[in-house]
Amino acid sequence: MATVKFFSGEQIPLEMHKVCIVQKLQLPNIERRLEAITEAGNNTFLLNNRDVFLDMLTDSGVNAMSDRQQAAMLIANDSYAGSETFTRLENKIKEIFGMELFLPAHQGRACENIISQALVSPGSIVPMNYHFTTTRSHINLNGGQVEEAITDAGLEITSTNPFKGNMDIGKLNSIIEKHGPDKIAFVRMEAGTNLIGGQPFSLENLSEVRRVCNKHGLTLVLDASLLADNLYFIKTREEKCKSMSIRDITLKLASLCDVIYFSARKLGCARGGAICTNNQEIFVKMRELVPLYEGFLTYGGMSVKEMEAITVGLDETMDEDVISQGPQFIAFMANELNKKGVPVVTPPGGLGCHVNAMKFVDHIPQNEYPAGALAAALYIVSGVRGMERGTMSEDRNPDGSETFSDMELLRLAMPRRVFTLSQVKYAIDRIVWLHENRHLIQGLTFVEEPKILRFFFGKLKPVSNWQEELVKKFQADFGDSL
Ligand code: F0G
Repeated sequence: MATVKFFSGEQIPLEMHKVCIVQKLQLPNIERRLEAITEAGNNTFLLNNRDVFLDMLTDSGVNAMSDRQQAAMLIANDSYAGSETFTRLENKIKEIFGMELFLPAHQGRACENIISQALVSPGSIVPMNYHFTTTRSHINLNGGQVEEAITDAGLEITSTNPFKGNMDIGKLNSIIEKHGPDKIAFVRMEAGTNLIGGQPFSLENLSEVRRVCNKHGLTLVLDASLLADNLYFIKTREEKCKSMSIRDITLKLASLCDVIYFSARKLGCARGGAICTNNQEIFVKMRELVPLYEGFLTYGGMSVKEMEAITVGLDETMDEDVISQGPQFIAFMANELNKKGVPVVTPPGGLGCHVNAMKFVDHIPQNEYPAGALAAALYIVSGVRGMERGTMSEDRNPDGSETFSDMELLRLAMPRRVFTLSQVKYAIDRIVWLHENRHLIQGLTFVEEPKILRFFFGKLKPVSNWQEELVKKFQADFGDSL
């Protein structure tokens, strides 16, 4: 991805790909959008795609594939056991991560199920830079507890710290001291730390974490789902890595870890999951779970077509032009919003542009889900679907009280190579309008609330008729415009 300076002085990211296949979009009018979000119980997960204009819910399984990926899918070799397709993927994983032992799974959380069942037992502790929703749920289901060791900078919404995903080594040492190394199932590092705004860790930090693991004989597990973004940030922000190739950085990172897993819905721009390791003992423990939960060892619940696409997608991840597109579009969006006074997470990370709902709608208390309310409001005024990443994404404590999230974010994911810059500018325009009219937004309250991962299919209603008022103001300002 090139960043070019225009004659006018403006600096914009320039796509280093051209569009070969397109899909038609529709933008329903605001009356329909209000109806649609009401039908969806104010939960953007429950909207139908046909009611969505720009789908910024996630970057998972919705990245644009390359011509080479599509071509590879045509030569997929389908067989229950021992397909050539599997061997090609296994070899690519060896080449890229230097890991000899590979287990397939149907997606990232399936890898987490296998790793947690193999390594976590009642009373186990899993220190990590920061949790991801499905990761923590799997660890808890197996009787373990997560302990977070993110640096204080990681939880500062606005910062100039280039590596807000770093683990605080002092905190890690305290966790080990408090519980004793025998209780630690494994230490987990998450690349492109999702829930704090797609923030990276540095190679230096991972090396320090490794040193602590070595000292206490602990296993280090890397969640590499968002590795592509993290690699780009290491290459561009970490002085010592500027002269290293993406391939060399990847091999170096991998050499520090005992187990690597990833959602190939993100890394590799296809759909699937993978676990790899050089540790025979851990491999054997995990291997027996794959046929039970996923499928035979040479497909693990994935279609062979997707496995071919992952093989090529991983290879393309080693190309800086490919992996820079997401972070550069996100930086463009975050910087433009920032200039117009909209509070966003800085520095811009990977995955998507993260709007700070705690500040955007600072009049909404956390128990009325500010980020969820903002997600519903943005959909109504634009047809852009974002995702709540705040208190709604937490489950309640056993006594029924809320777990208030550290951050209340509206995540506007940037699926890789999917949107054009004019679409991103449309989203920016509507967010800026919403910010000007933020006093009209009010909270939400649950009407149907599942116990686990409630954000996926819980239903809510507005605490007042604020959504109708928002529609009236939009119509007054925009007239017939969609
Ligand atoms: N780990 C991380 C860091 C993730 O971001 C995700 C998924 C997973 C694990 C689970 O992978 O979806 O393939 O089962 N994140 C998606 C998202 C759901 O929208 O951020 P999965």
